[in-house]
Amino acid sequence: MYSFAFITVPAVVLLLCGTGAHSSDPLIVTSYPDATGGELLICNLTDFTLTVSGHQWLKGSKVIHEDKDASQLTIYNITGVNAESSGQYTCKFLTSPEVFAVINITVAPHVVAYKKTEHGNEGDTGVMTCKSNTFPLVDEWTWYLVSQDGIQAIVNGSEERYFIKSTGNKTELRIHQLDIEKDQGEYMCNGSNIHGNTGATIALRVRSRLAALWPFLGIVAEVLILVTIIFIYEKRRKPDDVPEDEDGGSAPLKSNAGANHDTVRQRNSS
Ligand SMILES: *[C@@H]1O[C@H](CO)[C@@H](O)[C@H](O)[C@H]1NC(C)=O
Ligand SMILES: *[C@@H]1O[C@H](CO)[C@@H](O)[C@H](O)[C@H]1NC(C)=O
Ligand SMILES: *[C@@H]1O[C@H](CO)[C@@H](O)[C@H](O)[C@H]1NC(C)=O
Ligand SMILES: *[C@@H]1O[C@H](CO)[C@@H](O)[C@H](O)[C@H]1NC(C)=O
Ligand SMILES: *[C@@H]1O[C@H](CO)[C@@H](O)[C@H](O)[C@H]1NC(C)=O
Ligand SMILES: *[C@@H]1O[C@H](CO)[C@@H](O)[C@H](O)[C@H]1NC(C)=O
Repeated sequence: MYSFAFITVPAVVLLLCGTGAHSSDPLIVTSYPDATGGELLICNLTDFTLTVSGHQWLKGSKVIHEDKDASQLTIYNITGVNAESSGQYTCKFLTSPEVFAVINITVAPHVVAYKKTEHGNEGDTGVMTCKSNTFPLVDEWTWYLVSQDGIQAIVNGSEERYFIKSTGNKTELRIHQLDIEKDQGEYMCNGSNIHGNTGATIALRVRSRLAALWPFLGIVAEVLILVTIIFIYEKRRKPDDVPEDEDGGSAPLKSNAGANHDTVRQRNSS
């Protein structure tokens, strides 16, 4: 049975860990930066009784390199220690039995906001989300409200309006019953682990209920204006039509009838 060698490479201090392993370990793992800013991960198989038929490198559970070399040494080059390269790397010697070692490339969280600006309607629930896909996971997430009075930490469940839901790579802040005066502004999400603390800011815009109605009111106003225009047009058209009718055959009859009617009425009243 073989024991497995482990090594952690912190973000700042790089450990040359070959000396840390026991002489009985079949595998020595080291890691150091190369001249061009890359980072070399090295696994050295010290047990020469094993027949090597190849190597594998994995990041997490994903195979990132494979070869069929018989070498006792396998090197994998990552482009520096950063948020993207952070993770758990495994070197595997295809021997019988297999021998492998894990190298942790660890960094501080790299926190980013899903959206830099979020919108919510007055009275509705506002949702803001931040994530960090770095290794190791975020130990603790904190949300802050940034205002003129300073930076104020938001307590989960406070005022029965603020609710925080967090996992190692994601955090979500929900604010119930959005209020324009109170809730519109800048928010900050910070994630921390043993290597440090980083954050991202999100601007929350709260629309008034009336603003949400504007498109609808616009349509109503448009319809009203249209109806008014048609109505005025119809009203104006009728007197204009009369002179045209007077030239026609029936109009004089109508006006005569009207005239007769008026004289009749005048006689009756006098
Ligand atoms: C590497 O990371 C894993 C998972 O967080 C942890 O269990 C393991 O102890 C770490 N190895 C070292 C040497 O810190
Ligand atoms: C490692 O990667 C860096 C950046 O990709 C490259 O410049 C460098 O030459 C590589 N080093 C080795 C030893 O392959
Ligand atoms: C690999 O390990 C052997 C035995 O400990 C050592 O002699 C050799 O220098 C190591 N090679 C590298 C590249 O570290
Ligand atoms: C916040 O409180 C809710 C219950 O009100 C709970 O389900 C949730 O896990 C808490 N979140 C955090 C980050 O503690
Ligand atoms: C976040 O972590 C969970 C488990 O902790 C995992 O299932 C999920 O895929 C991760 N999401 C991302 C975007 O890495
Ligand atoms: C949150 O993170 C930001 C950016 O990384 C940092 O400047 C700030 O000091 C942190 N805030 C707190 C309260 O830790």
